[in-house]
Amino acid sequence: MAKIRVGLLFGGRSGEHEVSINSAQAIAQALQTGNNRDKYDVLPFYIQKNGVWIAGETANRVLDSKTPLSSEEINPSQLWQFPPQVQEVAVWFPVLHGPNGEDGTIQGLLTLMQVPFVGSGVLGSAVGMDKIAMKMAFAQAGLPQVKYQAVERSQIWSNPCIFPKLCDDIEAALGYPCFVKPANLGSSVGIAKVRSHSELETALDSAASYDRRIVIEAGVKARELECAVLGNDNPKASVVGEVTFEGDFYDYETKYTEGRSQVHIPAKLPANIVAQIQEMAVQAFKTVDAAGLARVDFFYVEETQEIYLNEINTLPGFTKFSMYPQLWNATGINFEQLVDQLVQLALEK
Ligand SMILES: Nc1ncnc2c1ncn2[C@@H]1O[C@H](COP(=O)(O)OP(=O)(O)O)[C@@H](O)[C@H]1O
Ligand SMILES: [Mg+2]
Repeated sequence: MAKIRVGLLFGGRSGEHEVSINSAQAIAQALQTGNNRDKYDVLPFYIQKNGVWIAGETANRVLDSKTPLSSEEINPSQLWQFPPQVQEVAVWFPVLHGPNGEDGTIQGLLTLMQVPFVGSGVLGSAVGMDKIAMKMAFAQAGLPQVKYQAVERSQIWSNPCIFPKLCDDIEAALGYPCFVKPANLGSSVGIAKVRSHSELETALDSAASYDRRIVIEAGVKARELECAVLGNDNPKASVVGEVTFEGDFYDYETKYTEGRSQVHIPAKLPANIVAQIQEMAVQAFKTVDAAGLARVDFFYVEETQEIYLNEINTLPGFTKFSMYPQLWNATGINFEQLVDQLVQLALEK
């Protein structure tokens, strides 16, 4: 049987460029191991930080060395010149995190190419990425979330008489600590935990420099649990994992500095909590119209047994050590089987 040519898309313009290269290397390896070796050919496509696509030997070199290319100034027309290998791809595997990769933009391009791809389509990706749209969809589905408020940049950078009133309202509604988040970033970029009126003002001003849309959430003291979902129309949930770390919250540095955080799989939890989380994870997946894969994150307040849905990630980290593949490994699907199933789910869709 002819091998299926998988176009592996990685790198990208977001702050998670390096993470993406790591994930892609692990996936490329798994697609060339065991049974997968006879089934798949991997064609790497590296998207540089400036947005230009590179295929062939250079892309392979980036993948092997896990070293990004330094990217130069370009003119916009270059963004519409794709390497000729694009035409050989039978199925795409986007391994891109954050803006331009996880938010429906690349999914729109691949849809226009009329070639199947792994993961969520435009709608699921876009709704899953934007924290405000995501929260509204979850609220409509009756899924439990912490209290939150959405504001726009124009309200923050408005008349200096209006801004203090906005902060007063947020303070009255949510109290402290609260979390200020740009709606569309991920990896904790631009997120601040605030404990006072003046910190709130500074955090809103700073978040507004990242995004037009900002969300503020009531802070909870909770355990952080994660559940992996796999499938299209009948998605399944994995065992539940937990992330622990030292420090104030799970910020960018904690996430990506080795040894700063620990993963516990499965998390020590009562069976009824596990069952509720798995059910909510699948509901969250369906609510945003996700497909293929997603990692769904929760806050669990142990004293009161309250569970809050925090967020869905439609293209979660995918290195050998990432939560998503580890959760499936503990559920009985190893890394090689997982990437195989994801490609098959893309072809089925
Ligand atoms: N409402 C909250 N209460 C307590 N901690 C929070 C809250 N919101 C965010 N955090 C902390 O900030 C981290 C990042 O927030 P999250 O919304 O998951 O952003 P990202 O999409 O960038 O991962 C969380 O993992 C958690 O440690
Ligand atoms: Mg998160």
